[in-house]
Amino acid sequence: MWKPFRGRPRPPPPLYDPDTPILDLGDREHITLGQMYQSFFVCGGTGSGKTSSLGFHILLNLLRAGACVLTMVAKPDEAERIRKICELAGRGKDFRRIGPGEPWKIDLLNYELSQPNASVESVAALLDVLVELASRSQGKGDEPFWALLSKRLLKMSISAVWLGTGKCSVTDVFSFITTLAQTPEQLHSREWVKGSFAGQCLLTGAMREMPPGKRRDFEQAVTFTEEWSELNSKTRSIGITMAVNVLSQFMSGAIADVCSSGETNLTPEMVFDEGLVVAPDISVLTHHQAGQFLQVALKTVYQRAVLRRDVRKSPRPFVLWMDEVNFFLDPKQDAIFQSVGRSARSITVAMGQNLPLLQQSFGPDGERDAAAWIGNFGTVAICSNNCHQTNQFFSDRIGQHRELFLGGSTQRSDHLPLSFFGGLDSTVTGSFSEQWSPRIPPSFFATQLRTGGNWNGKLVDFICMQNARKFGKLPYKFCTLTQGEF
Ligand SMILES: Nc1ncnc2c1ncn2[C@@H]1O[C@H](COP(=O)(O)OP(=O)(O)OP(=O)(O)O)[C@@H](O)[C@H]1O
Ligand SMILES: [Mg+2]
Repeated sequence: MWKPFRGRPRPPPPLYDPDTPILDLGDREHITLGQMYQSFFVCGGTGSGKTSSLGFHILLNLLRAGACVLTMVAKPDEAERIRKICELAGRGKDFRRIGPGEPWKIDLLNYELSQPNASVESVAALLDVLVELASRSQGKGDEPFWALLSKRLLKMSISAVWLGTGKCSVTDVFSFITTLAQTPEQLHSREWVKGSFAGQCLLTGAMREMPPGKRRDFEQAVTFTEEWSELNSKTRSIGITMAVNVLSQFMSGAIADVCSSGETNLTPEMVFDEGLVVAPDISVLTHHQAGQFLQVALKTVYQRAVLRRDVRKSPRPFVLWMDEVNFFLDPKQDAIFQSVGRSARSITVAMGQNLPLLQQSFGPDGERDAAAWIGNFGTVAICSNNCHQTNQFFSDRIGQHRELFLGGSTQRSDHLPLSFFGGLDSTVTGSFSEQWSPRIPPSFFATQLRTGGNWNGKLVDFICMQNARKFGKLPYKFCTLTQGEF
């Protein structure tokens, strides 16, 4: 029956309220939206229930709280899974799949160059991320000279193309690099200037009007082309191979269509303002390095756009969602992005399997980088894991407590006369000692946590830790979630 409203009207809950519960840990403990800004890392072995339990509930509730999302896609079924979670959250219309057969495009370099205060440095830094990723994945982190050479080649090429022609796509940079003069004589020949893309860029740039700062950058690029023509051919060819390896990933098939077609109809700003959920359905497992490069580039572009935005005008929380995070790591940019999470209203959610896999993805300084990277996450959830190194790491991080060990023994006495007269015929000794021992021993993570599936009643156990938070008297909480159903 309808009843008239009595009493003072309650104000509506504030939009994007930081106290909105996002993850229910049981016993009235929650991870709230405000706490999610400090980033969330889920670690667990393959099949431990990360994606279907924690991943499902966190994403569903972030979507219900109104967040906009960029997801990284490692597995072929990931984009479809995200779409279904959007439907469940009532956000189906906000879902945007990027990839073959879809209309959504972002021309990465032209988009970056069209931003206020765009500079050659900022665009070149976008490609630097990929050069570093390529050197790490080829185990060439110990050869910084070649990485530096190809970064400089890319930066000077972007400078010459952008300032020379007024625009700059990946294909243009590729054409510039591959038509650079090979000798000082060629550089000064009329045929090369007329017949090569590089020559044409330098010619048009020399004739264009540009402000003094840009003129200086352009002159630097011209000087670079002179130096380049004087280098020995082996050095030149290694530099070109590394740069072309990065650029060529963006130049064929579906990936070229998405990010180097010259057209942009889905920008990070649209995603923030309209509250969209973007999934690049170009998974790493099907598109290999090209899929990985495209997604790392997209991630960098979105991270920069989040750091640029004015949260008073664009207050919607932004979520960077990275399942199988080892494919998408970038130690420098990730650290900056996570450190300003609260003020930029950005949330990083990462899920990965174990420490050695992260270390391997970080390259030569992997051990140090991986530990520092995990340290940037305010909340960590640890699911079942068979990796001893990972289990030892988290056991150490949870710390030790003092335990009382009791011991005792009895000994029969051979002292006959004493027993004959009714005395004791055995000696009882007792001892106790206090020792520090792990609150959670490493083996606990391997044996005591349920991994979901019908045989576990769809229950997934995990240990949750949050910086500076105690659950009762403990620095961790044992939690259980049910796997999500579609
Ligand atoms: N809704 C569900 N009901 C029952 N079982 C499920 C459900 N979803 C997943 N599973 C099963 O639960 C287990 C854990 O799955 P999940 O994909 O979440 O693991 P994961 O930790 O993400 O693994 P990976 O690292 O390989 O991605 C798997 O055996 C999976 O088949
Ligand atoms: Mg998974």
